[in-house]
Amino acid sequence: MNIHNEKILILDFGSQTTQLIARRIREQKVYCEIHPFNLTLDRIKEIAPNGIILSGGPKSVYDKDAPKSDPALFDLEIPVLGICYGAQLMTLQFGGRVEKAVKREFGKAYLDIQDTAGLFAGMEIGHPEYQVWMSHGDRIEELAPDFFVTAVSTHSPQAAIRHRDKPFVGVQFHPEVAHTLIGTDILRNFIFGICGCKPLWTMQSFVDTTVAAVRDKVGTGRVICALSGGVDSSVVAALLHRAIGDQLTCIYVDNGLMRSGETESVLRFFKEKSGLHVIHIDARRYFLDELNGISDPEVKRKKIGYGFIKIFEEEAKKFGDAKYLAQGTLYPDVIESVSFVGDTVIKSHHNVGGLPEVMKLDLIEPLRELFKDEVRNVGLELGLPEEAIYRQPFPGPGLAIRILGEITEERLTILRQADVIVLEEMKRSGYYRKTWQSFAVLLPIQTVGVMGDERTYEHVIALRCVDSIDAMTADWSKLPYDLLGAISNRVINEVRGVNRVVYDISSKPPSTIEWE
Ligand code: XMP
Repeated sequence: MNIHNEKILILDFGSQTTQLIARRIREQKVYCEIHPFNLTLDRIKEIAPNGIILSGGPKSVYDKDAPKSDPALFDLEIPVLGICYGAQLMTLQFGGRVEKAVKREFGKAYLDIQDTAGLFAGMEIGHPEYQVWMSHGDRIEELAPDFFVTAVSTHSPQAAIRHRDKPFVGVQFHPEVAHTLIGTDILRNFIFGICGCKPLWTMQSFVDTTVAAVRDKVGTGRVICALSGGVDSSVVAALLHRAIGDQLTCIYVDNGLMRSGETESVLRFFKEKSGLHVIHIDARRYFLDELNGISDPEVKRKKIGYGFIKIFEEEAKKFGDAKYLAQGTLYPDVIESVSFVGDTVIKSHHNVGGLPEVMKLDLIEPLRELFKDEVRNVGLELGLPEEAIYRQPFPGPGLAIRILGEITEERLTILRQADVIVLEEMKRSGYYRKTWQSFAVLLPIQTVGVMGDERTYEHVIALRCVDSIDAMTADWSKLPYDLLGAISNRVINEVRGVNRVVYDISSKPPSTIEWE
């Protein structure tokens, strides 16, 4: 059966947790898509979901510019779950009343379930420990006709609601967050119980379907792909290799800004072990020359970005028969999420984003339906080594944005050596997989130290380790002192030219993860 035969549609009203709802549903092996709240009725009919979820959102339903979905979606006979703002909107559209809560409710609350059908199937009435997570300023004051209360909480007499005859339900709290202990059960009851979905969305079925779709689209054509060694491009390459074998050509550009041993390990795996057709371009000299004397982070980023496109394009031209360019675009880049916050460019991120326009090739983006954790599972399914799958994110401009100030061979060597030690110690202690990113940064200053009886005046390495879910926000990792001490000792003892290590204890925002 087609894995997309069953799906849940999430209409996004701007909540920070909309993507989390999607991930929770997919964890249950049901496919779902996020679309903006004002998706037309015709599009909804086309998508033909088995259920619709109205997400939370930062607005009040009575705001002048409050986002509203078409109320006619309730005529489609498709089950609907409203979460927080979504439940309030449903109440309003059915003729109930929503008001500013006298007491805004943020954080933990306990749910007193009154109806164990529908969303709360399998749960108990009067259970004292059904912890849920609230985050709302408005609340449902008066139920819409035909709705009744299915659960109350301390400050929400209408914490969950349900239509008498139709499959429309709503919750004031957020079932998608981990603090709602019964959240997964509630979402399962919605997708399996109320919507009647089956768990068809598995990574095995994704691989089978995608392989068939790629073969269909590409026919006998040639596909080229930029291989960086990162998780996304590695999975794209492995997936396409499975689909079209020799019709895939990968181009690996060594910009000289990689971590120690990175190029060798990527080439060893893909070229030697997997038999993939990989062209290795040694562009180390080109990038070092381009970056010579440059300290400004944005100029560094731009030069590396343009340089990459130039070299890639030159190489790809040699494959005149190439019709397609494969890219590792992921679902979070595709979702048109509703954001009520303005877009400001903080850093110009370099990835292969500029390539398609330049090259006039058709795009193949086999991962565009997947979240990062799903991409990892596809990689495992395809037999990529765990080491490649669980590799921490590494920025496109590489070590260039971890060397503050000018980039020289000597400074690259110092940073590479320090970086190896950081990674070794993080892996040895088991913290590598527990942190989002952990790396060394070379600072553009020298400090005084003493080694033996000698005065030293040498470089400083900053250690940056952060916890994060999606890199949008991050907190500095609370690593054990022993581990910090071991890293510091080893870096100062083993890396020539470094006499001091400092630990970065800034969160994002207001700082960023990378230093440049
Ligand atoms: P910042 O430093 O903005 O980084 O907090 C957020 C995440 O993005 C990574 N990063 C990049 N990734 N090209 C990339 O592909 C880039 O130019 C780039 N700059 C930063 C960074 O490592 C972190 O994971």
